[in-house]
Amino acid sequence: MGKKSFNKSITLLNKAVADELLAIHQYMYFHFHCDDQGYDLLANLFKKTAIQEMGHVEVLSERILFLKGDVEMKIIGQVKKIRDPKEMLKCAAGMEDESAKDYNIWANECSANADSVSKKIFEDLVLDEETHFDQFDTEMENMVKFGENYFALQAIERSKVISSSGPAEK
Ligand SMILES: [Fe+2]
Ligand SMILES: [Fe+2]
Repeated sequence: MGKKSFNKSITLLNKAVADELLAIHQYMYFHFHCDDQGYDLLANLFKKTAIQEMGHVEVLSERILFLKGDVEMKIIGQVKKIRDPKEMLKCAAGMEDESAKDYNIWANECSANADSVSKKIFEDLVLDEETHFDQFDTEMENMVKFGENYFALQAIERSKVISSSGPAEK
């Protein structure tokens, strides 16, 4: 076990790792299916976000090891097999909202246990998760504004790129 007085922090940091690992898996699943359906913008957004969540795992893990704990690397739940882009965005925004809420509470718990560094880590994560929420929320708004055309345009964009990048005709 870790430094005794920091066991509570280690538990919370590991809970956050479990949360981040699920987000990485879920967003990569969304990335693969958006890519498969030709929705490049969403595919890239999910991949970019998954990479940022991986960075979060790293920050959390470094802190756990510093406190002489170990990184459990458990995943908090199962990947949802959602293939509809609107449902993906709804799911992702919900996950970000939950994480931000949890991290706010856990920042306060770390503070109450006189662990201001872990508190700061959670606070920084809240800011990132709120940004992620905002990005997914904006995409949902665009969908409402532009309807099915929004996705059709992304697919057309890809076709244009593909058709213009082939070898020139002889
Ligand atoms: Fe995260
Ligand atoms: Fe996030």
